[in-house]
Amino acid sequence: ASRDFFIGGNWKMNGSVEQVKTLVEGLNKINVPAKTEVVVAPPALYIDRVRANLKKEIGVAAQNSYVKASGAYTGEISPEQLKDLGIDWVILGHSERREYFAESDKFVGEKTAHALKAGVSVIACIGEKLEEREKNITNEVVTRQLKGVADEIKDWTNVVVAYEPVWAIGTGKVATPEQAEEVHVTLRNWLASNVSKEVADSVRIIYGGSVNAKNAAELATKPNIDGFLVGGASLKPEDFNTIVQARS
Ligand code: G3H
Repeated sequence: ASRDFFIGGNWKMNGSVEQVKTLVEGLNKINVPAKTEVVVAPPALYIDRVRANLKKEIGVAAQNSYVKASGAYTGEISPEQLKDLGIDWVILGHSERREYFAESDKFVGEKTAHALKAGVSVIACIGEKLEEREKNITNEVVTRQLKGVADEIKDWTNVVVAYEPVWAIGTGKVATPEQAEEVHVTLRNWLASNVSKEVADSVRIIYGGSVNAKNAAELATKPNIDGFLVGGASLKPEDFNTIVQARS
């Protein structure tokens, strides 16, 4: 199956008016290679200005969205509102949301379903914690999280799965290409058995966790790694550009 390379830049809760301006200027200089999709996720407050100033070849994502279109849900943002601002993507189920905001597998699945229904594509994040890897339950954890999404949706066309081992996020401890590939194969096999062979072959599974300008190219050689979700290095335009070019 031909799966376009996908690079997401998750800025998390970083940036200021000044830094956002610099980042957008840097991104506008990136030459997006053929068969490569680039999407950046600024904090919600800056989304509108990023979309207004960023070149159209680069997509913009929110870092979260809710399960309702509108209403009395103080502090939340709906995918319908994202659409209204020309935002086509949302990151859902990031481990930081699961950990600090107690988001369950089911809630992440419901948010995914609602975003897709509203026409917003989803980067659905899953990944095991260090103690889970040490207990040898990585596969159970990531397939359980994936099932949380699979239980709520039928059409995977607009979903990208991001495998992000929690122990690799922001730690400088990147998974080896073999470790990442092994989990990506597990996820694809699970999709083949539980959703369909077609979805398993076509859905992009990207890796996240301490991806940087030095390690991206080697990770990108693995057949089941279809791109990256980049945190820290997405705040460094030159490094991010190197990662965008990793497969070309
Ligand atoms: O969403 C991005 C991931 O959490 C990776 O973050 O590249 O800073 O390790 P990191």
